[in-house]
Amino acid sequence: MKHKENRRDFLKKISTAAFAFPFLANCTSAQEKANLSDIELIKKNAKQENCNWCGAKDAPENVSWRANFAKQNEEGEPLIVSGTVYMPDGKTPVPNILIYAYHTDIKGIYGRNGEPLHGRFRGWMLTDKKGRYEIRTIKPAPYPNGQAPAHIHYTLTGKTFKEDWIDMVMFEGDRLITDGIRSGLKGKGGFQPIIKLKNKSDGFLHGVRDIQLERNWV
Ligand SMILES: [Fe+2]
Repeated sequence: MKHKENRRDFLKKISTAAFAFPFLANCTSAQEKANLSDIELIKKNAKQENCNWCGAKDAPENVSWRANFAKQNEEGEPLIVSGTVYMPDGKTPVPNILIYAYHTDIKGIYGRNGEPLHGRFRGWMLTDKKGRYEIRTIKPAPYPNGQAPAHIHYTLTGKTFKEDWIDMVMFEGDRLITDGIRSGLKGKGGFQPIIKLKNKSDGFLHGVRDIQLERNWV
């Protein structure tokens, strides 16, 4: 729990409070499970109330392994973040993991008037048979107060575990990534949450954020 306490403290500091709430009881019967699709079963594990960092419950039924957060001709630097979700061994890909991700706009702001809490740069992906996911979006900006690097938040939900968060994705070279932020990363989601972006000829910045499931998630 110390881990989550630390993260709460961190997120409070950067003005995007994230609070953990007790998991809801999962009372799905065997018969009910048999009648539900994978995404419906997964959404049973979404946090439903009093959770301002989660969003799995709003996933559409036809969720794909790829999501596009941005409008056509969206202002900002086009960005693709992709990766693979692996078992705790770090090698075996995991299909059917629901990823919810969201980030600020080019001014560092989440929801404006009439937009959802997390703004319009958000979406859902269900990892494919190879464990892959892909986000097409624009590069977010740091908060206007400059108190946090640019980042993308992720939550993961599976048929065997309830919605949980991983360390937010940040971008190597961001001057707001301090030594304190680097040392404060807890390895949530495994691998490296501070990713390197490369310019490619398709006009997108590309970065890879692979994810390693924790042992208590499988
Ligand atoms: Fe944030």
